[in-house]
Amino acid sequence: MNLPPFKLERFFAKYEFNTEHLLCSSDCEAMSVAELLALDADPEGAGAAEKFQKVWLGYTESQGSPSLRAEICKLYETIQPEDILVHTGAQEAIFLFMFAAFQEYDHVIVHSPAYQSLAEVARAADCDVSPWRAREENGWSLDLDELRHLMRTNTKAIIINTPHNPTGYLMSRADYEASHKFAQENKLLLFSDEVYRESEYDPAARLPAGCDLGEYAISLGVTSKTYGLAGLRVGWIATKNKRIYEKVASLKDYTTICNSAPSEFLAEVAMRNRKKLIERNLGIIKQNLRVIDDLFTRRADLFSWVRPQAGSMAFPRYLGGDVETFCDQLVKEAGVLLLPGSVYDDSRNHFRLGLGRKNLPQAVEKLEQFLIK
Ligand SMILES: Cc1ncc(COP(=O)(O)O)c(C=O)c1O
Repeated sequence: MNLPPFKLERFFAKYEFNTEHLLCSSDCEAMSVAELLALDADPEGAGAAEKFQKVWLGYTESQGSPSLRAEICKLYETIQPEDILVHTGAQEAIFLFMFAAFQEYDHVIVHSPAYQSLAEVARAADCDVSPWRAREENGWSLDLDELRHLMRTNTKAIIINTPHNPTGYLMSRADYEASHKFAQENKLLLFSDEVYRESEYDPAARLPAGCDLGEYAISLGVTSKTYGLAGLRVGWIATKNKRIYEKVASLKDYTTICNSAPSEFLAEVAMRNRKKLIERNLGIIKQNLRVIDDLFTRRADLFSWVRPQAGSMAFPRYLGGDVETFCDQLVKEAGVLLLPGSVYDDSRNHFRLGLGRKNLPQAVEKLEQFLIK
């Protein structure tokens, strides 16, 4: 296995815990254990908090606790608890899925730009990877004709990510359905990274979960992003494909075996109260979007962007010079972190902007002072 450094994680390792204003985080604002438990309190104020004290700290069921899987199922239309496999974050699920499903010489088509592991783990599993490029000039949409051209006789899977990291692009229903039809007709697996699902600014635009559309599809979910609870490290795959499910479950015995019991309990509370978490987090994003809309209107000389349709991120373009230098000076001189697009192998001067943190208005104020200087 040959895995190069995960550029985004190495970048964050350098800055995440020593920079005052993170203006490029992909997740929504987190909360404390006490705040989360309070969402589930009974009228006397006890409820989940009391039960949390009694969580048993032994090994847990490898596929995830039945009650957590029952809560996760509510995200889907046709999925049963036995179709859910809980992991330590979405990252473990990506890793195990790819090593379970792919073999040497398989060809995999990956929505690009991509969260690095969606392409890199497939490469490490000795697959040939073709990027299926989203283009800014097309509003970050994907071209179905290009997908047809990328197809080879040894193509094994298509990997899509919608709502998309880093652009905030939400596929149209027609394109989404066409991608699924293409996978089904060509007997491909479709791995659907849906970690930003339920953060659509217009709920009517929400796409069906991939796993509900057929056995060939695998949906990826996590508590980190839309629900703002990255510290739980609880992710999952949902699929009716029993062969893939069993292979992934069997590989998991070599990584984490089972999940953390306190995290599973808290994740269950989160999923039971996910509507409240969504309302809170979308409220923050929408308020932040107004601040960013104003900034980009005032500074149209320096920034251009395709406005996101979902999620806690956007991928604007810097027009004032080299984006790497800009991000470097900004963090050193103003303590504001933006993520240069080079982390996504983008060479067109984009940077990642995070929209999910409460202190975005203060970070933008610092950014503007820096721009004036
Ligand atoms: C598209 C996408 N998939 C998967 C992950 C991994 O999620 P986690 O860090 O919660 O494991 C991320 C994290 O940024 C992501 O953006």
